[in-house]
Amino acid sequence: MQHLAGSVAIVTGASRGIGVNIARALAERGVHLSLAARSLDELEQVRAGIEAMGVRAIAIRCDVTSAEDRAELIRRTEDELGPVDILVNNAGIERIGSFDRSPVSDFADTLAINLEAPIHLTHAVLPGMLDRQRGHVVNIASGAGKAGVPYGTSYSTSKFGLVGFTHALKAEYLHSPVGFSVVCPGFVTEVGMYHRWAEQGAKGPRIGGTCSPDKVAKVTVRCIERNTLEATVNTPPLRPLIVLGAIAPSLSPRILHWMGYAKTFAKVADIEADRRNSD
Ligand SMILES: NC(=O)c1ccc[n+]([C@@H]2O[C@H](COP(=O)([O-])OP(=O)(O)OC[C@H]3O[C@@H](n4cnc5c(N)ncnc54)[C@H](OP(=O)(O)O)[C@@H]3O)[C@@H](O)[C@H]2O)c1
Repeated sequence: MQHLAGSVAIVTGASRGIGVNIARALAERGVHLSLAARSLDELEQVRAGIEAMGVRAIAIRCDVTSAEDRAELIRRTEDELGPVDILVNNAGIERIGSFDRSPVSDFADTLAINLEAPIHLTHAVLPGMLDRQRGHVVNIASGAGKAGVPYGTSYSTSKFGLVGFTHALKAEYLHSPVGFSVVCPGFVTEVGMYHRWAEQGAKGPRIGGTCSPDKVAKVTVRCIERNTLEATVNTPPLRPLIVLGAIAPSLSPRILHWMGYAKTFAKVADIEADRRNSD
């Protein structure tokens, strides 16, 4: 989709973190925004900031795991803004912990939010996009969807799924004007889940690199405009690691340990275990 001005986009997970940057970057292109998350007060603040940028914006309380909430999100977006041109599946959670000591329910929760919700939302909006011969779906995955991260089994499983889902859609609708992208950020600074863990003492891997939320947002918009299938967003050396892992998969876990990922995520696992114990 080359000309985004006047389009209508749904951005899930727009109450905080990277979703806010993505919504703002779309607003800068003149896109009207339907902002979805569970925290309505935070969403309202984001909505007011986006409307001040000169586009229309609505805030819709939506738990993406609820079929009723998803249907209401689409119904209100279409009624109040118009047909959905762009869907950004950004809402996500990450449970970090040692696999053998974590509840297996972590998988159900994580897969429901990170993978099943994007599938349901895409299934709901795609027929309209195909009818109108216009539309784009962006899934926000992660570097953890390209290399299996230690202590992040449920998260990596969901993000590998999201990468595979996007690739399969692209292959199926290759000759359609509707586009599909998957964006894989590494360690995002300033806002978001890793930033919160870093503030609690979990330093990123010694040679893992980082990226800003604005960069993730910029790349997301570029993926829509250029119909790019996949983009990794991080300073080096995440991309070479991913390439190496694709060529020689058995090297990937060893490299992750060498780079310091296991140390970082072991620390995050401690932070999360403390949080769970105090809940
Ligand atoms: N931060 C990073 O370094 C990083 C790196 C790679 C990929 N990512 C991906 O980027 C995306 C955004 O992450 P973030 O770091 O910005 O996370 P975040 O700060 O924790 O924000 C997550 C967003 O998802 C929403 N959300 C969570 N569960 C939801 C549910 N059941 N229904 C609706 N919304 C829900 C949250 O809103 P409510 O709580 O208000 O519902 C919030 O707006 C995620 O998919 C994440 O996996 C992040």
